[in-house]
Amino acid sequence: MTQDELKQAVARAAIGYVVDGEIIGVGTGSTANFFIDELATIKDRIKGTVASSEATAARLKGHGIPVFDLNDVESIAVYIDGADEIDASGAMIKGGGAALTREKIVASVSKSFVCIADGSKLVETLGKFALPVEVIPMARNAVFRQLAALGGQPKVRVKPGSDEPFVTDNGGHLIDVAGLSITDPVALENTINGMVGVIAVGLFAARGANVCLLGTAEGVKSLR
Ligand code: 5RP
Repeated sequence: MTQDELKQAVARAAIGYVVDGEIIGVGTGSTANFFIDELATIKDRIKGTVASSEATAARLKGHGIPVFDLNDVESIAVYIDGADEIDASGAMIKGGGAALTREKIVASVSKSFVCIADGSKLVETLGKFALPVEVIPMARNAVFRQLAALGGQPKVRVKPGSDEPFVTDNGGHLIDVAGLSITDPVALENTINGMVGVIAVGLFAARGANVCLLGTAEGVKSLR
């Protein structure tokens, strides 16, 4: 099976976690896009969604699925999203698709987090995928120096085909930190959250996934 077929299989399996009559949190990225396309087939069963990015909101609306502003929503039954890496405890690296801050916000008000990923995302120790950190633009270099002091190799994410910093949906910039071996994800999440100018770090450890559906050649496996 191709990686896309594995993503599609987990996206389909995630429909089993959708709660009828409720609002569903929806993530960002290629796996989340497959999920959105599956969700469209049962859209009459849900009240609506909260989107974790402008791109996700546009895709949901394109399918005629209602998208609510989080400020108008009291609670979300389940949040369904992909990951760049996940470990056996449910801790994740996210933000390859630049939506980490809104993903973290939507996840924080959701009763359950269902991670959907192809099997290649499962790792023993997080950190092979460069850790994304979203920062206030004026603090970019100040935070960059602090991230370098942690022992990784930070790099400012740039717009495709340009030297200009990439700008997120929130007007933030992104620093991707390579070369970290993250043996204590909760501690590192707290450390980076404590740096002034950081909007969010793409470590989802203090609040990890409750369920992880992994697409493998042998079928969809539930990690937790
Ligand atoms: C976006 C994310 C995505 O969930 C992550 O990058 C995985 O993407 P994909 O499903 O395309 O592999 O965190 O910010």
